[in-house]
Amino acid sequence: MTRRAVVIGAGHYLPERIVENAEFEATLDTSDEWIRSRSGIERRHFAAEGETTSNMATRAAEAALKAAGRTVEDVDAIVVATSTADLTFPSAATMVQSQLGMTRGFAFDVQAVCAGFVYALANANALIASGQADRVLVIGAETFSRIMDWTDRSTCVLFGDGAGALLLEAQEGAGTSEDRGILATDLNSDGRYKDLLYVDGGVSTQSTGYLRMQGNQVFRHAVEKLASTATTALTRAGVSSEDVDWIVPHQANIRIIQGTAKKMGLPMDKVVVTVQDHGNTSAASIPLALSVGVERGQIKPGDLVVTEAIGGGLAWGAVVLRW
Ligand code: UT7
Repeated sequence: MTRRAVVIGAGHYLPERIVENAEFEATLDTSDEWIRSRSGIERRHFAAEGETTSNMATRAAEAALKAAGRTVEDVDAIVVATSTADLTFPSAATMVQSQLGMTRGFAFDVQAVCAGFVYALANANALIASGQADRVLVIGAETFSRIMDWTDRSTCVLFGDGAGALLLEAQEGAGTSEDRGILATDLNSDGRYKDLLYVDGGVSTQSTGYLRMQGNQVFRHAVEKLASTATTALTRAGVSSEDVDWIVPHQANIRIIQGTAKKMGLPMDKVVVTVQDHGNTSAASIPLALSVGVERGQIKPGDLVVTEAIGGGLAWGAVVLRW
């Protein structure tokens, strides 16, 4: 028997305010046509004034608990993937813990930028596999609108805010690829590429800073590294790309999503795509897409799902799980 981390609930939260591409035309030398054709993005949500990452994470967590038919009493740990925590410390995860009214267990953040949710899932899987926790809330939540340079058209039209959450539960599997739950993970980073995507501020430089990206350079790395990490995770799980029911990729750019699916030999009707409605929500994009995929009736129990993401660091990785 093998202890598996099985998804028993998914949920998400998107802030109320929706900003269409056309809104940027008033203040920037850009167009709906450019944003749509280069990135696939049509609109994104922005957090309201005073609305924070932990607020949104809590709403997503509540939705995941409800979907699972569990309460906060059932949760042993919270892992939040974010690069935009409310405060330098304590962690966004402990703030979620308090907002949920959870007075036991433990909570911490994982920071791997757009790959954050994949890293958080891998960590939660290890907590469950080792017996440290039986149920873990894994959340991706971001307020990237707070680190946008609104005069930089090459970045500010691409990102959005939101949160998604999964509740993982320890269940016994047979140890085969037919088991439900996380079957394999693959994590990578290469700090030589730190200058391709970063925020030019932080605690020890005593500023908040703004996101800076050499988009076309990140693009050059993305398809190859994403297809490669997904293939590694599939091999580790003992399955092949033909067995995949759904790719749920990080939602940064439709052209990266299409290129990765093509490189893996999979058609676009096996890909959950939300980039048109959410933009790039960094660590929130995969759990948002998973939750929306379930809501749309795309992802069903027993489906083989592969998630993959790349972002600042560069950091990238993939998780293969049976829903
Ligand atoms: O989530 C973390 C990982 N991040 C990513 O995966 C993002 C990866 N990169 C991308 O998605 C794409 O590179 C972008 C969408 C950011 C850009 O698309 P691109 O096809 O790589 O365009 P580019 O950066 O090579 O820029 C092409 C042109 C430039 O003009 P020139 O130099 O050719 O005259 C830019 O100045 O497009 C210009 N441009 C814009 N034009 C209108 C850049 N931003 C805009 C804009 N509106 N918003």
